[in-house]
Amino acid sequence: MKYINTFSPDRPVSQVALGCMRISSMTAAECEDYIVHALDCGYNYFDHADIYGGGKCEEVFGAALARNPSLREKMVIQTKCGIRPGRYDFSREHIIASAEKSLSKLGIETLDVLLLHRPDLLMEPEEVAEAFEHLYTSGKVRAFGVSNHSALQIELLQKYVRQPLVINQMQLSITNAAMVASGANVNLANADGINYDGYLRDYCRLHNITVQPWSPLQHGFISGTFLGSPDYPELNAKLREMGEKYGVSDTGIAIAWLLRLPEQMQPVVGSTNASRLEEIARAADITISREDWYDIYRTAGYKLP
Ligand SMILES: NC(=O)c1ccc[n+]([C@@H]2O[C@H](COP(=O)([O-])OP(=O)(O)OC[C@H]3O[C@@H](n4cnc5c(N)ncnc54)[C@H](OP(=O)(O)O)[C@@H]3O)[C@@H](O)[C@H]2O)c1
Repeated sequence: MKYINTFSPDRPVSQVALGCMRISSMTAAECEDYIVHALDCGYNYFDHADIYGGGKCEEVFGAALARNPSLREKMVIQTKCGIRPGRYDFSREHIIASAEKSLSKLGIETLDVLLLHRPDLLMEPEEVAEAFEHLYTSGKVRAFGVSNHSALQIELLQKYVRQPLVINQMQLSITNAAMVASGANVNLANADGINYDGYLRDYCRLHNITVQPWSPLQHGFISGTFLGSPDYPELNAKLREMGEKYGVSDTGIAIAWLLRLPEQMQPVVGSTNASRLEEIARAADITISREDWYDIYRTAGYKLP
């Protein structure tokens, strides 16, 4: 596992983070085992959201920490707020209430990172700034970021928010790489030339914002993994070929492909399978060549103009 600095210059974090969206059915003991194994593999960054499992994921994680409190200091805990049934809500009251509820469910004093989950169409940036200021000065949140935000939306928020926005979590995988492909198709009237995000890669790199690819092994909108899927025969054959070449699994290569992007992204993987977590951690240590990176990119169906 490699380590990078995302939210604090003196707190290195694993370059692959672990998403906790799929842990709601675990018992506290199972979740403790999952955390201990993840830490042993080198993961030390855990991603939550107030809504995962209808709130159950934070609760189970908190119960695991209660069984083994020494685990807390070994990890960075990130959660998200702002999605409510049928609406998004970046009001001061909701942001503060949600963060406080997450703290209580996780059974911890401070959230290391709090993200705004999806842009609220009725956002008042001044209100967000007030909420963040309150959470920061009261010691309840150390650092802030966003998720699913465009470059300009971040710029607008940052004009009002005093704390630096250090993370933007975005959907990105080999099969969902519009954010990458648009960079090779500037000013071209083809599908890959459509820029959906305001050249987020460049923006985040310019402003020291770490992009966290979410669902890095899924196709569609969390529609299942592309690994082993009959819908992606050429891509899977290429990932297996590359896996053999680099001595890691096809799943590992899919993550190594994201890690090869030079801006030091931090993919958030969602596996709860012990051996898969080991495979991915191993793959985080390899660096695939420029030639092989482009080979995989083209095999996934992206064209170079
Ligand atoms: N910000 C947002 O809007 C947003 C949205 C969605 C998710 N997220 C975050 O992103 C995290 C990851 O999302 P995700 O769970 O969709 O990520 P993922 O890592 O792309 O997918 C994980 C799922 O794929 C399966 N999988 C992985 N490799 C496989 C393989 N080789 N063969 C068969 N199955 C395989 C895993 O099963 P096993 O458990 O069996 O390995 C698991 O069910 C979430 O936990 C959450 O923290 C954020």
